[in-house]
Amino acid sequence: MQHLIVANWKMNLGLAESVALAQSTARIAEKYHQHRIVIAPAMPWLVSIKEAVRFAPPTFSLAAQSVSNWPEGAYTGDVAATQLKGLVSYCLVGHSERRRYHQENGSVIAGQIQQLLAVNVTPIVCFGEMTQSQQAAFSPQVTTDLDRDLAGLSPEEIQKCVFAYEPLWAIGTGVVASPDYIKKVLKHVRPHLEQKASDAVSLLYGGSVAESNAADLATIPGLDGLLVGGASLHAKRFAEICRSFHGRL
Ligand code: PGA
Repeated sequence: MQHLIVANWKMNLGLAESVALAQSTARIAEKYHQHRIVIAPAMPWLVSIKEAVRFAPPTFSLAAQSVSNWPEGAYTGDVAATQLKGLVSYCLVGHSERRRYHQENGSVIAGQIQQLLAVNVTPIVCFGEMTQSQQAAFSPQVTTDLDRDLAGLSPEEIQKCVFAYEPLWAIGTGVVASPDYIKKVLKHVRPHLEQKASDAVSLLYGGSVAESNAADLATIPGLDGLLVGGASLHAKRFAEICRSFHGRL
């Protein structure tokens, strides 16, 4: 199985550091060419990085961290999907930090997804609950955001997205969700999404993924990959995470 391992660099690193890390990560992608490796650097460095990794294997791609829900025009500070066209293959959508600090929800997210799909960029749609559900290991809140975000989309549009389950309590906290917890959530979320998409969808996990827990995460059946934040800023740590998934079917 080809896993998708996404490095979300968030608002970190200058140009020189970003180019160097992109080149190191491209070498990791070469070594673990069985996986698809994606980096999401800060927007201003994308053009330089694209040039710097032009010899990277086809399994290595770039992503943007956000996009406008509008096609073009007077939206100061926004970047249109058409401006990302040809530059990135993926774009994060609905990350909890965008939901929290930029109030991106519901129809805004649906609009972003549609803008991206129109230029053949794959949206990576993030969702997850705020607090850990102790008893059932499943909170209906997991799918609440998703239902709202995907409301206006067709099954074909939903099927073209990648989804990343990122419980908020696990993001940047060092508290990773246990494989059992993730399994239970996926068992509920996968059919929920596949019913909307009327076909199979790709599902990733994100939230405090590290080299110390990646091997455990790699044992989760049906998990299509990872969304890695902090640990992806260090080539050695990220390489260890990719190695954990190597040879996994
Ligand atoms: P983290 O971030 O790995 O640092 O918890 C994950 C994310 O926000 O995508």
